[in-house]
Amino acid sequence: MILVTGGAGYIGSHAVMELQRAGYEVMVLDNLSYGHREIVEEVLQVKLVVGDISDRALLDQLFSTYPITAVMHFAAYIAVGESVTDPAKYYRNNVTGTLTLLEAMIAASVKQFVFSSTCALYGIPKFVPITEEHPQDPISPYATTKQTVEHILSDFDVAYGLKSVRFRYFNAAGAHPNGQLGEDHAPETHLIPLVLMAALGKLPAIQILGTDYPTPDGTCVRDYIHVSDLAQAHVQGLQYLENGGASDVFNLGNGLGFSVREVIEAAREVTGREIPVVERDRRPGDPPVLVGSSDKASNVLGWKPEYADLKQILTHAWQWHQQRHGQHTPVPQ
Ligand SMILES: NC(=O)c1ccc[n+]([C@@H]2O[C@H](COP(=O)([O-])OP(=O)(O)OC[C@H]3O[C@@H](n4cnc5c(N)ncnc54)[C@H](O)[C@@H]3O)[C@@H](O)[C@H]2O)c1
Repeated sequence: MILVTGGAGYIGSHAVMELQRAGYEVMVLDNLSYGHREIVEEVLQVKLVVGDISDRALLDQLFSTYPITAVMHFAAYIAVGESVTDPAKYYRNNVTGTLTLLEAMIAASVKQFVFSSTCALYGIPKFVPITEEHPQDPISPYATTKQTVEHILSDFDVAYGLKSVRFRYFNAAGAHPNGQLGEDHAPETHLIPLVLMAALGKLPAIQILGTDYPTPDGTCVRDYIHVSDLAQAHVQGLQYLENGGASDVFNLGNGLGFSVREVIEAAREVTGREIPVVERDRRPGDPPVLVGSSDKASNVLGWKPEYADLKQILTHAWQWHQQRHGQHTPVPQ
């Protein structure tokens, strides 16, 4: 059985569905601080334990009761801006919480761990596409929490034989092609859901934060990786560990960069809606271009993104947003 922490959230729920498809038995641990109970209970129909990764007694009980062989760890706080204003919240949950989880695993002799890390730990890129060897220079507490856990994982491998795959995601995007799962963060800070909320009239306009970057159209360029491709990589990462693979780290991106303006234009085409735009100043700390190389994941894990096309990503996300948030609300004037 695979324990998926944060399985009621965006990426974790997709991973649960891929694990099920690959024949695994799955259990979700989520405190529902940001996750959605009905997604786990009604859509995924797996056991949901509502609890916290920092609850050692609960973890000990889970590991002693269920035949858990590996943990996929998605549970974390994810808002980069909030991590700057409230770093304690992020260090406590993302680092201390993860440490408690890892100690409980070691005590129970569960030694396979798949971890959600982030490309944000590279900081402002010195070159693109970014490889795993790119120097690390996190510029937010959020990114530092992920880097710290990566250090802990290296040390735990040496000391306790804990084997881990660490995935550094670029921008997770899209929704499950079957329309049953998708992105529903509150508050939402990611570009594609915000663009689609503007298309649905749930937001008056989409803000472009900076139009004077050294990019072809002046707006930031990012690498959008379909969430189903991410989920598939997690299954392959788990199988790699099950086959005796050594601890390792892999970027997960699709290697293609799209600017904010390109995303908005593609969303106009996919939705057929007006998407009002407001241009604002740059936000501090946003690199002009973030594009990753996932060659290592392809070469070592045999992973290949299936939905690299931006319009495909937007089409799946739009299908989800329409049914989740309703499609007939008029755009506020
Ligand atoms: N979304 C992205 O683009 C992106 C990019 C890089 C890395 N990541 C990482 O991927 C992971 C999943 O991100 P997401 O977008 O699905 O976020 P999400 O907020 O949708 O999911 C996180 C889930 O973890 C749960 N959770 C948080 N703290 C918990 C705790 N202490 N105990 C139990 N459950 C807890 C939340 O309730 C939520 O369901 C995170 O670790 C995030 O840092 C995400």
